[in-house]
Amino acid sequence: MIIIKTKDEIEQMRKAGEILAACHREIKTMIKPGITTIEIDQFVEKFLKQHGATPEQKGYKGYAFATCASINDVICHGFPSAAVLKEGDIVTIDMVVNLNGWLADSAWSYAVGQVSEQAQRLLTVTEEAMYKGIEQAVVGNRMGDVSNAIQKHAEAQGFSVVREFIGHGIGQDMHEEPQVPHYGPPGRGIRLKAGMVMTIEPMLNTGAWQSKIDSDGWTARTIDGGLSAQYEHTIAITEDGPIVLTRQ
Ligand code: MF3
Ligand code: CO
Repeated sequence: MIIIKTKDEIEQMRKAGEILAACHREIKTMIKPGITTIEIDQFVEKFLKQHGATPEQKGYKGYAFATCASINDVICHGFPSAAVLKEGDIVTIDMVVNLNGWLADSAWSYAVGQVSEQAQRLLTVTEEAMYKGIEQAVVGNRMGDVSNAIQKHAEAQGFSVVREFIGHGIGQDMHEEPQVPHYGPPGRGIRLKAGMVMTIEPMLNTGAWQSKIDSDGWTARTIDGGLSAQYEHTIAITEDGPIVLTRQ
């Protein structure tokens, strides 16, 4: 069942999203060769606490951290660690913020220092693909229109779209209906309605789309060692078009 949110509930989620966006803006200034992702994770926990919010991922299905930190060939759900970020790495920081019981979810990929031309192009195209999807998140469209816009842009630029991890409805729970695939044919799937709130969070790879999971049970990597990037916003569908609740 898809839970339709009221204007007031969307406003609660926007407030959570505002804190999340501010946190990402801080992270952007912190990402440099030499920093570790556990330092970023600890910063996030402190930042959210200072803003009266909590990290929803911590404790979720046994996950131990406030953030996911996914470096280079890691697609998603990487553990923050004491490994030092190096010049040329790309890293995705993903988090879910809980403010008074209402959630917002946003992941962002960052370049560490100067990155290769291919890595930079992957970052740019992945962010663009997310916005192509958001553009299609309008009342009367179908979910497949969102999915297809993302896949079309990614593949036209020579990148592949991860299939195993998809966007999702969100509200007072991290994962609600509907499912939001980032690939598939247009004109199919559920019809989009005002009051639906969901994440759009494409993961694009330089090589094949397939993934494998490390023995830690969480860390998802590209099967061929290619790079992976991800951009994720939480959006609300309204009669006036999509509202990005996690806008930076
Ligand atoms: N933020 C992620 C998402 O986009 C969920 C992370 S899984 C967790 O759905 F267990 F770490 F929370
Ligand atoms: Co997320």
